[in-house]
Formats: sequence, C-alpha cells, structure tokens
Amino acid sequence: MRAEKPCLGCGICSRIRYELMTSYSFPPEFIADLRSRVDIVSLVSDYVALTKAGVNYKGLCPFHGEKTPSFTVHEGKGIFHCFGCGVGGDAISFLKRIENLSYPETLVRLATRAGIDISPYERRRGSLKEQERARSERENLTNAAACAQNFFGRLLKENLSGRVGAYLKKRGISPAAAEKFGLGFAPEAWSALKDEFRRQNIPEAVAVAAGLLVRKEGTNRTYDRFRDRLMFPIRDVSGTVIGFGGRSLGDAEPKYLNSPESVVFNKRRLLYDLHHARPAIAKSGFAFLVEGYMDALALYLRGIDNVVATLGTALSAENVAAVKRYTRKVAVFFDNDKAGRAAAFRSLPLFMAVGIMPDIVLLPEGVKDPDQLASGLDDTGLREALTRQVPLFDLFLQEKGSAQIAYSDRLQFLRQVIEMITRLPDEPLRGMALRATAESLHLAEEIVLDEYRRLRDKPRFRSENRPQNEAAGAAAGTPGAAVQTAAASPDEMVLATFLLYQDLLDEFGDDYQTLVESRNCERLFHKLRHWRSATGNGDFLQQLAGDGEDDSLAVLYARLLHLPAPAEDLTVARKLVSDCFTSLRKRRGNAASRDLDRALTMCQDEEQMFALLRQKMELKKRLLAS
Ligand code: UTP
Ligand code: MN
Repeated sequence: MRAEKPCLGCGICSRIRYELMTSYSFPPEFIADLRSRVDIVSLVSDYVALTKAGVNYKGLCPFHGEKTPSFTVHEGKGIFHCFGCGVGGDAISFLKRIENLSYPETLVRLATRAGIDISPYERRRGSLKEQERARSERENLTNAAACAQNFFGRLLKENLSGRVGAYLKKRGISPAAAEKFGLGFAPEAWSALKDEFRRQNIPEAVAVAAGLLVRKEGTNRTYDRFRDRLMFPIRDVSGTVIGFGGRSLGDAEPKYLNSPESVVFNKRRLLYDLHHARPAIAKSGFAFLVEGYMDALALYLRGIDNVVATLGTALSAENVAAVKRYTRKVAVFFDNDKAGRAAAFRSLPLFMAVGIMPDIVLLPEGVKDPDQLASGLDDTGLREALTRQVPLFDLFLQEKGSAQIAYSDRLQFLRQVIEMITRLPDEPLRGMALRATAESLHLAEEIVLDEYRRLRDKPRFRSENRPQNEAAGAAAGTPGAAVQTAAASPDEMVLATFLLYQDLLDEFGDDYQTLVESRNCERLFHKLRHWRSATGNGDFLQQLAGDGEDDSLAVLYARLLHLPAPAEDLTVARKLVSDCFTSLRKRRGNAASRDLDRALTMCQDEEQMFALLRQKMELKKRLLAS
C-alpha cells in the first residue's frame, strides 16, 4: 500500500521522502460512526491532565499557555472548548490540531486508535458508485423494518382481545406501554407480513435481506420469519428500527427469535434501547446493564430509564465502548443463576480495559431476574432493592478466589487477576484493585505488588494489553500515515500561487498570515517569506530540507508544486487569492459562530454566558455585513 518512489513530475521528490499517497474516501456515516466510537476524554487525556468539574472535565489548555485551567471537555457531547483562547471542536479537530495533521490523516489515526478497519475506504475506481449502492441498500433495509414495525404495531392494537392481549396482561404490560415502546404482534401465519410487503411495494429480495422473510432453501418461495410472537423493535442509537426480537407467545422454540445479522443489524455493536436510555444515563450519570428485553422493559415501566440490554449475545468490547461514552458508572444486573453470574464475570475484563469498575446488583434469593424483581415490589421496595450492589471485582475475587483450592490454581488465579488489573488505564484504580486482591487472597500487599510489577514489565504481557494504542502510536510515527485528499484547500491554493508569483507575497502576505488555517501552510509560508527576504535566491527546497525538521513541509511543498497551475497570469492570480481569502473569511466566521455555540453549551456561569451571547450577536451582524 505504501511505497517510496521518486517522483517523476518535479525532480524534487527524489531528494525527499515522498510518499506515494494513498487516498481514502470516507463516507459521512463513517465519520459519524468514528465520532461516536472515540471517547474524547480518553483521547484528550493522552495530552492533557483532566479533572472532573461538574458535567465537564477541565485541564490546562494545550493550545495556549495558561496557569488556571479553562480548557473544557464535555464527554457526552464529545466536544471540547477552551474559554481562554476560544479553540474548540470534537475529537477529530482536537487530534488534527494537536498533532498538526491533515483531515484525512486525522481520521486514519483515530480509526486506528478505535480499532476500526479502514481498508474498505481505500479509494478505488468506481468506489463512489459502490458507496451509493451501500447507502441505498441500508436505506432499503431500514424501510422494510419500518414497514414491518408499523404492521406489527397495528396488529397488536387490533388483537388486544386475543392471545397477544392476554400475554401482555400476564406480563404486566398495559396497551399504552406497549404502544409507547413500539411493541407489535406477528400473527400465526406464513404470509401476513409478506402480503403487507407486497401491498407496500417492498421487493421480496429486500425483505429477505432484512431477515423479515425467509427463503425456503432451494426454492423461490418465501414466508414470514416471525410468527405468533410479541415483537420488540430494536433500534440503533439514532432511533431507527433496524431489527426485531420476537418473544414466542407459547412454547415455540426458540423463546426469543432475533433478526439475523445484516448490513444494518449487528448484535455485537448494538445495545437494546440505548437510544431510549441515553438521556437518562447522561442525566443520572449511571447505567444498568441487563440481559433481556423484558428486563429492560420491566424497569422502564417502573420509571427506571437508564437501562440497556445486550441482544442475547455476550457483552462485546463495542458494547462497553458505547456505554462508556455516556458514563463510567455501570451496574450489571443479570439473572440470578449460574449463567447470569458467569456472564457478569466474563464482562469484567472488558469493562476494566476501559477503566470501568462496574458494580453488580444482587438479587434476593428466589428472584429470577430484574423483570421478576420489578413486578414483585412497590416503588420504594424496588428502589431499595436496586441499591443492593457490590463491586463486581470484589465479588469475583471472593467467589472465584475461594473456589481455588490447590496452590497452583491459586497462583494461576492471582496472575489472572493481575492481568485484568494491568488493563486498567488509571493508576489509582490499579492501586485499589491490587490492594483488594491482596486482602481477598490473604496475601501481603507487597507480594501482590511485586508480582504485578514483574508481569507488567514483561514485554509480551504489555504488548498484548495495549494493542490499539501502540498500533496507533506506531502508525503516527511513520510517514506512511500520510494521506492526501485530491482537492487543494484555499490555504494551499494561495500558497501555491505565492510560489509561482512571489511578488504577491508582499501584497497579500499579511492577510494570508491572519487567515491561514493549516499550521503546515502557515509554517511553509513563514519559511518562504523569510527565505525570500533573506536571500531571494538559492534553493528554497535545499533550505527546507536542511532545517533538520520533520519532512512534512517538504512533502507539502512537493504537493503544491504538483497542483495544476493555479493561475495563468498575475491578474488571474490576484483574483484567485482574493477569492480564496473571501472563502477563508467566511469559514472563519462560521467557525467562530460554532465556537460560540459550543462555549454556550458548556458555560456554567451567567455573566460569561451574557458575554458570549453579546459576542454572538456582534458576529452575526458582521457576517451579514460582509
Ligand atoms: P432470558 O431467557 O433470560 O429471557 O434471555 P427473559 O428476559 O427472562 O425472557 P422472559 O422473561 O422469559 O420473556 C435473556 C435474553 O437472551 C436473549 C434475548 O435477548 C433475551 O432477552 N435470548 C434468550 C435469545 O436471543 N434467544 C432465546 O431463545 C433466549
Ligand atoms: Mn424473564
């Protein structure tokens, strides 16, 4: 993918390390997904020591010198803002600015960090067409799901006096609650939904791809997948229905039938009703994780909204990352049996790897699951029952630790626990966990600490535990991470023009300096101006290369020389520069207005808020005038 090739175009590139730049083309969904999967607090923490202040995190701004922290990060919204220098944005703009990267480079870095495979986005011929096809495929699938949900919902209302109504009653779900949660009814028929799809002009192939119809093997015949079931719609985080879980009304197996995996339905990535629970989790700063749709629903019906559920699969790293975007305080609330307990213990290392030490809600003897707990208690009783929590790690030590009898098993258990502890990203948490381990296993703390240090410093151990960060770091250090977009920015257009018509430097240089956005363009511009006033002759590139700095400026220089000639004569060049300035000014105005909006959302001080509102009004006036 990456090659070092002398460039035949300009004769310069043979002297500098010029990358054969691979282009990526990232669709908007990718960028939105990336944003949602990057935890801005952990990203910023790589550069800034943050402390929690209300809903925000605060620290010393890395972009200007300051002694009192005015740099603010809002985890839930995924944004940052410095009240001192006004810089702000999301995770992407933070990394771009602090590492001085191009936009696509930044996306590549962040994606690597988040463990997202970007190879599908390598620009190939016809890839735009490919993207368009993928987009319309997704749209077809969600359309089919929406149509099915309407249909199932209507049937539920029409059949409240029948079997499904009786089932709802038995489970304590009122018709109003069923409607609120979008529940539905799939009748006992082979072609109820199939006929509906035909009426709604939804092609059979789409319905099959959406998993709503099943094609009988070896034939052309299709039939309804979900029959005689209470239907739970499953939504993605934006609230779009993308699949279903169907509870059998009778004894039919399986008890719950789920939509099969598709382009839009990926159980590993989804959490049931995160869409609904999100605001409540953000508000309470706390989330319950349950195992079943019914458990989630039962708690919602009792006014407890900060609940998400896995989709009948083991908790995944993606699930944990999704939860962590909203809170680090999590209580697992699983079934009161061996399987439930085992699932809770299995989730522990995943949580610890992202710095979450979850609690576990302990159900009273004889109560099977959260659903049963909720239906058996009044409000006060339920609230109280929910406070019966212990740290999951402590319970793990206690239950699993005491189960190991042989010395060799006990030693192995100790090492397993320490391995989990080394995953914790926070040193204080590690300290607490190590102490708890020593206490629980009746060992001197010093001994546990020694073993921890020994294992931590073992290279194999380390690299296994921090694959993502190290991979990202390595990628960042190599110029191979350089990626280039085809189109030149206004910054680059102007600079390319300056290179060609150096007299324009005197005329427009000062304005350029105030308007330029890219730090590399700004650096190159300064070098160019300096070189011109100092010597005016000699080899500019020689000087660039001789500076001993990284070669990003030389790479930029080569790129500028490769651009199509920006203007054929001085008049056109002047016009081009001033057009670029207009577009930079406009962008700056828009960015300033976004900055102000961001500052307003994070502002917790009335006086500061009025000042910001005033600034916003003035900016609006200025933008309208220009
Ligand atoms: P449970 O068997 O604990 O279901 O499975 P539950 O929530 O108590 O259901 P009720 O109360 O009997 O109706 C927990 C979760 O595991 C998945 C579903 O997501 C379910 O909510 N599951 C279970 C399946 O996907 N398929 C199954 O056959 C069973
Ligand atoms: Mn149950």
